[in-house]
Amino acid sequence: MSETAPSPVKPRPLSSMPGEKGLPLIGDIVRFGKDQRTYIERLRRDHGPVARLRFGPTDWVVVCEPELVHEITVSRWGEFHKPAVNRQVFEQFLGYGVVSSDGDHWKRMHKLMMPAFHRQRIDAYAAVMSEYTGQMLDSWQTGATRDFQDDMTELTLRIVAKTMFDADVQADAKSFGEAMKVVQRVLVAHINFPVPVPRWWPGPVNRRKQKAIANIERIVMGVVEDRRRTGEDRGDLLSTLVHARDEAGKGMSDRELRDEAMTLFFAGHETTANALTWCWYLLGKNPEAVARAKEEVDRVLGGRAPTTADLDKLVYVEQVFKESLRLLPSVWVYMRETANDLELGGYLLPKGTALFISPYLLGRDERFFADPLRFDPDRFTKENERKLPRGAYVPFSAGPRVCMGKQFAMMEARIVLAMLLQRFTPTNPAGYEPEIVCELSMHPKGGLPTIVAPREKAQPVEASNA
Ligand code: HEM
Repeated sequence: MSETAPSPVKPRPLSSMPGEKGLPLIGDIVRFGKDQRTYIERLRRDHGPVARLRFGPTDWVVVCEPELVHEITVSRWGEFHKPAVNRQVFEQFLGYGVVSSDGDHWKRMHKLMMPAFHRQRIDAYAAVMSEYTGQMLDSWQTGATRDFQDDMTELTLRIVAKTMFDADVQADAKSFGEAMKVVQRVLVAHINFPVPVPRWWPGPVNRRKQKAIANIERIVMGVVEDRRRTGEDRGDLLSTLVHARDEAGKGMSDRELRDEAMTLFFAGHETTANALTWCWYLLGKNPEAVARAKEEVDRVLGGRAPTTADLDKLVYVEQVFKESLRLLPSVWVYMRETANDLELGGYLLPKGTALFISPYLLGRDERFFADPLRFDPDRFTKENERKLPRGAYVPFSAGPRVCMGKQFAMMEARIVLAMLLQRFTPTNPAGYEPEIVCELSMHPKGGLPTIVAPREKAQPVEASNA
């Protein structure tokens, strides 16, 4: 029987699924909104791997069964859409860009953008990643305490702007980062209380949000308009978008161009910045992993900056990053919505049922990761990774809607981590424990304070060409 064939047993109604009933009318909006992460952790613990919660008048389902995650994202992906709440939340910010769109519009945009993420193109980005990382590290002063999250946000923003848009946004990186923080906070408040607020609404929170979006838009559109004015084709993603024509010879509208540019700036830096931040924090707590990673970096690079030819040899560094994404995934949850009434996991889900997939919960599930809170990069040796059930480790999602920047991010992470480890030892301030904040992506509250501690002098090692 095909894996997508409906179960022969008559599906049970959604109302019979274990879960929380919540209060009449509002369901569990208030409890969920207070702390989404703790809420879904409790739901998983008390009601099992497939459980529902009431969100106002509708049901939401948290899916922590890898096989079902695989069905939703891969084998039956066409039966699930991005949810309406996603569109509402992103409407004024990212518009109808590739992260939030569906159907023919998504297909067209996805096809247009894909070449920018092909292997050969990505390889060319390595030089930018290593140059900008080197510049950042040169500016660090020994003994200082820095906000590592801010540093990573600035670095990854500069990298995405240069590689995708051939623009240097260093001068704007700080205000972009500040504006992003405001937007995130307001958008998450909107998920928790999804009543659409028009652009002109005069409340102070809305005014702050509009100002922050306008600030981000000014920076992004400055880059786009420059290119439109010159009409120059520089062979990068921005040129592809500016020069794109459909079958009727029609180019992208200003709105489409704006939405895709905003989407790429947003999706292409924040997630990686937070993933690197968590990784540095976890390394700060795991000196054995640091020692192994340093040994590998010295052996492979012998003190020089990494190039694409080195990346496949930074095996342990990659394992470290994967393990960090398991424990503290920057995209801690993503959502889908049933496109029609359908059966999933033996339940009949009405059209429009929202589904939560959480790499965070899956990554801490002891059915797949023994002693899940232990940081152990050896979980991701090739052999061990192969043993994981499909759908159990999905920090980049999977299937046709998998993260377009997955290879880009994996390359960026290895380059940045290798260069950091060549010069510094990850050092958290004494007694520091981060408070986890789950906004659009997961990050430590107030950033990550890190002490700039130069590493012991690396043994000069012959670069390995093996
Ligand atoms: C560690 C870093 C990253 C993580 C954890 C991550 C994670 C994800 C996840 C989970 C999704 C699917 C979201 C959903 O289905 O709702 C996604 C989508 C996407 N990501 Fe990433 N991402 C990262 C870095 C990047 C980078 C560097 C770029 C671009 C340069 C990028 C561009 C995109 C795009 C365009 C999509 C939408 C794909 C589509 O729906 O067709 N991401 N990402």
